[in-house]
Amino acid sequence: MYHWKVVILQLNQNDHPVKKILIMNGPNLNLLGKREPTIYGSQTFEDYFQTLQQLFPEVELHYFQSNHEGALIDKIHEIGFTFDGIVLNAGAYTHTSVAIADALSAVTTPAVEVHISNVHAREAFRHHSYLSSRVKGVIVGLGLRGYELAVRYFI
Ligand code: DQA
Repeated sequence: MYHWKVVILQLNQNDHPVKKILIMNGPNLNLLGKREPTIYGSQTFEDYFQTLQQLFPEVELHYFQSNHEGALIDKIHEIGFTFDGIVLNAGAYTHTSVAIADALSAVTTPAVEVHISNVHAREAFRHHSYLSSRVKGVIVGLGLRGYELAVRYFI
């Protein structure tokens, strides 16, 4: 009895395997465009995601947003052994969630933490992140451009 395992390897034009990167947004980031535009800008993330896809046609970009801590953790578990990178803006869970920090440590896919606003120029409770010690690096305060810079790190 033979057991065959078929591995389908997708290659980009330069013969490199296509990188899979997940952009993950946490609570209230579904309201980007409407939410406190003086802090977060007036563009929706869906709109900006299209820009990202145009900027990185050679990358398989995925997008996931949830307002629920457990759903974010489930997604990290789901893709965290096969994807090449996670670009994570966990919103307010950044400042509260040991569980998301543990999920990042539990998987092998590296992450970069992104914040649209400069959290260090805001209220003191935003200055601490439970996630920063579990990621490769942190980009804060550069607006939506921070997501682009984080994707660049992985490619
Ligand atoms: C944020 C900063 C967090 O403090 C806040 O709770 C958010 C957004 C940012 O992108 O600037 O929801 O992560």
